[in-house]
This record gives sequence, C-alpha cells and structure tokens, in this order.
Amino acid sequence: MNAMDRIIVALDTPDPSVAGEMVQRLGPELTHFKTGLEFFCSGGPGAVEALQDSGARLFLDLKLHDIPNTVAGAARSLAKLDVWMTNLHASGGAEMMRAAREQLPDTILLAVTVLTSFDEKTFQEHVGTDASVEDTVRRWSVSAREAGLDGVVCSPREISTVRGELGDDFLIVTPGIRPQWAAKGDQRRVTTPSEALQLGADYLVVGRPITGAPDPREAAGRIAREISEFEGSD
Ligand code: C5P
Repeated sequence: MNAMDRIIVALDTPDPSVAGEMVQRLGPELTHFKTGLEFFCSGGPGAVEALQDSGARLFLDLKLHDIPNTVAGAARSLAKLDVWMTNLHASGGAEMMRAAREQLPDTILLAVTVLTSFDEKTFQEHVGTDASVEDTVRRWSVSAREAGLDGVVCSPREISTVRGELGDDFLIVTPGIRPQWAAKGDQRRVTTPSEALQLGADYLVVGRPITGAPDPREAAGRIAREISEFEGSD
C-alpha cells in the first residue's frame, strides 16, 4: 500500500463546507478521510455524498449499537451511501455484528472494542466484571472476526494484542497518532506513525496534526515520508 493510503484524515467538524475544503486541499494524493456523528448529525447523508463526490473515500465513524434488527436497518440505509468504511460497537454482540455484515457486504466493516475513554477501573466497575480491558478487547476482536467483520478500531496500546490473536489478515485502524513534531492536544497516550506501524496497524487516523497545521499538505507529506521510511527499513 502506498504511504498516503495508510493515512485516514479525521475531519472533526459539523460543517460540510469546512470538510469539503480540506478534502480539496489534500487531494488527490490523500483520499482517505473520516467523519463521524458530529458531521452526520449536522449534514446528513447529503453531506456524506457531497464529500464522496469531491473525491474522498470515506470512513463513516458512526459506531452503530442497537438490537440486531435496528442495526440491520441502519446498515441497509448506509449501504445506499456506498461508503468505503464504517463501524459498530462489538459490545452489541455477535448477532448484531452479523446482521450488519449481511446488509453491508461491500463496505469495510470494523468493530470498536472497549472505548479508550474507559480506564481499567471504570470499565470493570461499569460493566461489573473482573475481566481486564485487554482480555475484553481480545475476546471481542475474535467475536468480530467470527461475525465476518474486516477488522477493528483500537488504540495503539491494544494493537499487539489484536495482531497476536488474529494474525495479519485482519485490519487494524488506530487513532491517537502524533508525529514527534506535532502537539499532543488532548491525546494522552500517543504513538508516532512508525511506532503504530511497527505494532501492526494498517491504517492511521490522524486529525489535528494535519488539519490544524499551517500547511496541511506539507504535514501529510511529512507523515507519509515517515511511513515510507519505516516501510523501507522494514
Ligand atoms: O485530531 P486527532 O488526531 O486527535 O483526531 C483523532 C480522531 O480519532 C478523532 O476523530 C477522534 O474522535 C478519534 N478517536 C480518538 N481516540 C480514540 C478513538 C477515536 O482520537 N480512542
């Protein structure tokens, strides 16, 4: 895969025109973009279609989670949008994941495992379990694969667990990426692009280090060079 294709630029804005301008500024070299609930609740399917028409291959980060019948319905509606990639919560269960998969046969479908906003203690207290976050991520990743999903979204510190359990033929998409030269912002546990690839990530979600840079194209180019250098030395 070419280095630029490993980068997914997070467009965290409710404003379709701001997102569209960023796609224009970064294309055609960069084609992978992510928008989520903020964008979708504001602009709706029409804004998603407009972004795709302007050249974006879109990861629509909606994190679906409901009973299987409802998620199947949402997935059926999403199939019409023909996005490149989307996701759901593994905690919704195997039947829910299978129901979504059936409705979205041609879209890369990922599972979100344990939200990184949980730490070990709050996760165990909230769920009422002794299982660790790591074991839960491992179990839910296996369940996602068995349900026919293509991979998971996980934080850099979970990549090696998932890769170790599921091998190479399972996609890992990871946020929390910060090149050494970029500000951390509110990200606490950050990983550089080459560290994330070394751990086994396939795609890197990068937002502010690119979208907040004075020259986003130049910033994306620097990250792509770091990726190429890592892959060249691999
Ligand atoms: O600007 P930044 O690079 O921090 O953006 C990262 C993107 O990844 C945002 O869209 C954010 O919501 C998402 N994300 C994250 N950490 C997680 C899960 C998702 O930063 N654990």
